[in-house]
Amino acid sequence: MGLSKKVLITGANGLVGQSLVSLMTRDSAFKVHGLSKGNKRISYYIENFTYYNADITDKTALQEIILKIKPNVIIHTAALTQIDECEQNKELCHKINVEGTQNLLELAEKIKAHFIFLSTDFVFDGLNGPYQEKDTPNPISYYGQSKLIAEQLVQTSLIPCTIVRTVLVYGHHQGMRRNNIVSWIINSLKNQQTIKIVNDQFRTPTFVDDLARAIMVLAHQQKTGIYHISGAEMCSVLEFAYAVADIWGLPKTLIEPISSQKLNQPAKRPPKTGFVILKAQIDIGYSPHTIKQGLNILKQQTKGIL
Ligand SMILES: NC(=O)c1ccc[n+]([C@@H]2O[C@H](COP(=O)([O-])OP(=O)(O)OC[C@H]3O[C@@H](n4cnc5c(N)ncnc54)[C@H](OP(=O)(O)O)[C@@H]3O)[C@@H](O)[C@H]2O)c1
Repeated sequence: MGLSKKVLITGANGLVGQSLVSLMTRDSAFKVHGLSKGNKRISYYIENFTYYNADITDKTALQEIILKIKPNVIIHTAALTQIDECEQNKELCHKINVEGTQNLLELAEKIKAHFIFLSTDFVFDGLNGPYQEKDTPNPISYYGQSKLIAEQLVQTSLIPCTIVRTVLVYGHHQGMRRNNIVSWIINSLKNQQTIKIVNDQFRTPTFVDDLARAIMVLAHQQKTGIYHISGAEMCSVLEFAYAVADIWGLPKTLIEPISSQKLNQPAKRPPKTGFVILKAQIDIGYSPHTIKQGLNILKQQTKGIL
């Protein structure tokens, strides 16, 4: 007990946050605290877990919580993650993704915590993927820009910091407010709805359990610097959707390939991102599941739900 590390996970209600809470509370090396904007959405009982309701843009509220907990590690996953909403409401995006991160970082500096920041492949322009940690970012959306500005704040800090960039995360979390890519594909196909999926955007999709495990190891070993954490296989978003349909036994004929230009979303998406994960493989023995394995595990985890 005395030797366990106190961890604060922001965005504890989200896809990555819930997976981290579930994994880290099972490790007695950690005493886990979670923070999110809404009410607690993890409904099952977890020992070794305290939840706080707070907005990361409210510095006073944050200060009260953080100075009370005095975490050794802060894992910052909270963000405005809806890419089109970020493009259409830049002020809100900046407030949450940049100022929110700055607020947390200042408090982390006060208590000298290890700060782990979740970032994205969208810091790259997608012209030269897959990307290594040393490649030069060049975001083409406001979301990507906001995450890059936050990364730069993190990098100039004097406390130990880790930037974990990830790509197209799939998995399940409780009380989802919106569909994630897998649940959207499954629910649409089950309801006989046609869906349009881009065939010209390429990613290395990431199973959320692999990502959470990598973050936990980085926290354990207090690794600092940038880490690219994603799956190892590159595919188009269309191919990923076909894999989901295959594993759930749903009709691929309802999936309509479309180009990014035709889909014309408010925010631009980088055409080919994906990561080279060699650094994580060497440094922390990171070894992600294949897409097929990840989707099969997810299918087991969501029996009766998806
Ligand atoms: N998912 C992906 O494909 C992906 C890819 C690359 C990078 N990332 C990065 O990974 C991180 C986690 O992503 P995710 O998929 O887990 O996102 P998510 O499911 O949208 O969860 C984000 C969480 O942040 C919380 N949040 C938002 N604004 C907040 C605020 N002002 N104060 C406190 N909490 C706030 C929300 O809490 P409430 O629900 O309580 O409102 C939400 O649950 C993000 O930093 C994202 O940029 C994700």
